[in-house]
Amino acid sequence: MLSGKRIILGVTGGIAAYKAAFLLREFQKAGAEVRVTMTPSATRFVGLETFASLSGHEVAVDIFPENPGSSDWTRHINWGEWADLFVIAPCTANTLAKITTGISDNMLSSTVLAARCPVLICPTMDGEMYESPAVSRNLKKVQEFGYYILEPETGYLASGLEGKGRLPEIGDILEKASEIIGSVKGPLEGKKVIVTAGPTREHIDPVRFISNPSSGKMGVAMAEAAQGLGADVILIHGPLFVSKPEGIHPISITSTAELFEAVKEYKDADVIIMAAAVSDFTPTEIHPQKVKKTEGENSIGLKRTQDILAWLGDHKKEGQVLIGFAMETENLIENAISKLKKKNADWIIANSLNNKDAGFEFDSNTVHLLGIDSNQKFKGTKKEISIEILNTIFR
Ligand code: CTP
Repeated sequence: MLSGKRIILGVTGGIAAYKAAFLLREFQKAGAEVRVTMTPSATRFVGLETFASLSGHEVAVDIFPENPGSSDWTRHINWGEWADLFVIAPCTANTLAKITTGISDNMLSSTVLAARCPVLICPTMDGEMYESPAVSRNLKKVQEFGYYILEPETGYLASGLEGKGRLPEIGDILEKASEIIGSVKGPLEGKKVIVTAGPTREHIDPVRFISNPSSGKMGVAMAEAAQGLGADVILIHGPLFVSKPEGIHPISITSTAELFEAVKEYKDADVIIMAAAVSDFTPTEIHPQKVKKTEGENSIGLKRTQDILAWLGDHKKEGQVLIGFAMETENLIENAISKLKKKNADWIIANSLNNKDAGFEFDSNTVHLLGIDSNQKFKGTKKEISIEILNTIFR
């Protein structure tokens, strides 16, 4: 449930703040990307550096960026838009009261107001405080706002007393977070999404073919990202050098002609993502037996294959979203824009083979998402980029 999800972990100033470091790790193990915001008093319990190095992101405390030259003056809004889930663990009585009244005097409390995602609050404090009329009223209030509460556990507390106020077990927080994420309808809920991935192979004879080095990683990452947004995904793929995601219906093809036949079956899908590296040429003749070498001139006759994306562009259903890729070695943006227009696609994801650590076979990529009037750059693992791109298009 948490795989590919983006979680903000809010840490407030209670002794259980150190347990949030373990929670962060468990979220990551479950496949989530985590950013941390701490209240100023939380930094007295655990150092910023702990969460920064564990999360791999800057930890935000103040609304204002730490670097005054930074342009990130609205990061509480950006984070609020970015997240799929906001978990505040531990949440002190003070932060709970701020949330109840809408006070936004630090990054954590401001981001709660800006968040578009579900918010899970794990109140953690001394037993007497937890039972106090003010906290009881505030807990009721935030639930009326639609925020989720995971009640604290009863047991030995930092005050030396026994009572209700301990942070629940990490596993219980994880379970609750998964349950909440699972109940949220993604923007592709109920939509049929077709993703093509991997190379095609154009056979010359039974032992030789024309192909390319595509591993299928980008297409598989797009399929997983679409599934994460709630889509019903069909993956039409050539030979893959990466395992197929669970819960996605796979259709295996070899040649461009087979890919075309398979895609035609689903031409009316809500979204079609052509990530396959399709061969532009195929031999004029496929020899049924292995071709023997002969003296003198040897050549293979070639003919053009069907441009499947262009065909889909000509047969586009009303409301359908058509996404293509472009792999270039020069004039990246210019060539990709020309493909966007020529093939009547809604979006082209352009990648250059000249980028270091990007392109065929790598786990990372640097791409431009090009629309008719837009150009946005994404850099990261193929998995991260796919999630960012689909969120940009559909959220
Ligand atoms: N594509 C397709 N059918 C083909 C060739 C490409 O559907 N016969 C799709 C690819 O899946 C991709 C997009 O078209 O989404 C662009 O593919 P690319 O290989 O970058 O470019 P081509 O259109 O083949 O043009 P060129 O080889 O001239 O760069």
